[in-house]
Amino acid sequence: MNIKNTVSWENLNNDLERLKGVHLNDLFSKNPNRFTKFSFSKDDLHLDFSKEFIDNSVLDNLIKLAKECDVEQQRDAMFSGEHINNTENRAVMHVALRANSKDAYEVDGKPTSDVVDNILNKFMIFSDSIRSGKISNAYGQSFTDIINIGIGGSDLGPVMSVNALSAFSNDGPNLHFISNVDGNDFLDTTYGLDPKRTLILIASKTFTTIETMTNAKTAKDWLLTELTESEISHNMVALSTNLKATKEFGIKNENVFGFWDWVGGRYSMCASIGLPIALSIGSKNFRELLAGFRDMDIHFKTAPLDKNLPVLLGLIGVWRRNFMKLPTLAIIPYDQRLDRFPAYIQQMDMESNGKSVAKDGSDVSIETAPIVWGEAGTNAQHSFFQLLHQGTNIVPVDFIIAAKTTNKLINHHEKLIANFLAQSEALAFGKTKDKVLAEMLKNNIDAEKAKNLTPHRHFKGNKPSTSIIYKELSPFSLGRLIAMYEHKVFVQGIIWGVNSFDQWGVELGKVAAVDIGNVIEGNESISKLHVATQPLLKKINELRK
Ligand code: F6P
Repeated sequence: MNIKNTVSWENLNNDLERLKGVHLNDLFSKNPNRFTKFSFSKDDLHLDFSKEFIDNSVLDNLIKLAKECDVEQQRDAMFSGEHINNTENRAVMHVALRANSKDAYEVDGKPTSDVVDNILNKFMIFSDSIRSGKISNAYGQSFTDIINIGIGGSDLGPVMSVNALSAFSNDGPNLHFISNVDGNDFLDTTYGLDPKRTLILIASKTFTTIETMTNAKTAKDWLLTELTESEISHNMVALSTNLKATKEFGIKNENVFGFWDWVGGRYSMCASIGLPIALSIGSKNFRELLAGFRDMDIHFKTAPLDKNLPVLLGLIGVWRRNFMKLPTLAIIPYDQRLDRFPAYIQQMDMESNGKSVAKDGSDVSIETAPIVWGEAGTNAQHSFFQLLHQGTNIVPVDFIIAAKTTNKLINHHEKLIANFLAQSEALAFGKTKDKVLAEMLKNNIDAEKAKNLTPHRHFKGNKPSTSIIYKELSPFSLGRLIAMYEHKVFVQGIIWGVNSFDQWGVELGKVAAVDIGNVIEGNESISKLHVATQPLLKKINELRK
């Protein structure tokens, strides 16, 4: 099916044409109750699309588009364990990781609950036992520090969540993360730590990723500076689907936490890859996190499209990307503890839908994933918001905030809320030249100077944003928020016709790095390299002398 031939696609183009020249100010003047019409809730989670450049017709046509693209059928196919990851012939069942027995999910005719519960129970017991000191090092001492070594999907979810939920760690062990193959990441992270009392988690779905395996080998050597070969087995844990490789690496069986090929790396934080989170917040809180995920899974699975939060969020993204032609998406959580949230969603979105080939191998005819970026507010305001307000690109924003803070500095949170509200308002409605000039004159600024300054101080507005609000940041609300974005990405992948669950695009660079690495290590001649790479490497080698 060519999506451009659908009725809804054509209608949406007509909507865009009709809305040309209309300002968000006009839409609000016409209907001051846009919040009521364009806000959607699931319990205490609210999505406000009123400051998106939409009207009733746009929203209706987007819902129709989802229907025409079979979003419901494809969603059901995912939940029923079909091999929707066609290029790898795999089911996509991360929802089974946070299911309860009622959900009865299956992959290839086998219930997922048997295997999932097994591992989950093992890792819940393990994490609580590490936290309490029941599981100890070879000397019977508890672990004071835990280092997770992993990259991409084996790092971002845990690092983001551990940070986000630090209020729930209740004096658990200190969690650290090493992801980059840059030795400074290893050296800086391990500086001052006691190898004897440090537990190393090697997190890698494939257990072959060069960065992770390099760091893992260095970690092993680091442990051996204080422990014997037989003692280090207490200090090493593997989170992986590759049980053969974990064994070869020397990880004892009881310290291996497996998972399955039907869990994509960037969707694996509810699988064993989430162990660092459970170690940080304990099993009870981790179960709450899973419950939050499941809450959104069930909502996504059952709510009608026009009330379905991930569907609506995905459709608004399609409107921004394919009709308004906006190439990026800024995610701005007004929560310092969510400062890694944009990076986490960046991988989820861009690695899933950053594709130009459709599921059937043909070229896609429309734009796919936006460039996702962002950073915590208010810091973001003082770095790149200038461009958002007055630059030549329109950057749609997802603003995120908790109504209540978990800390006692209530006045800080009130300022955070004020900024959160002020930014989306300023972006949407701007400030007219007349108003800018009048204000300056009122403040006794010289008339000539005021006139000259007016264009610089003028804000055109008309910049779309979505506001996402929930009661407070907790394991449950975090799980629900992440699952909402996961399913949003799914919906967009269906509409764009791509396979959201493979990532062939990262292969080429990986293979090239291995080839170049062989040359750097002296195993191959430099003449084997591309003519563009040879002189660069020669230059680096000169400087390394
Ligand atoms: O960067 C590509 C990628 O394959 C991601 O999809 C994945 O999250 C990451 O590498 C890490 O992979 P692994 O968990 O197998 O080490």
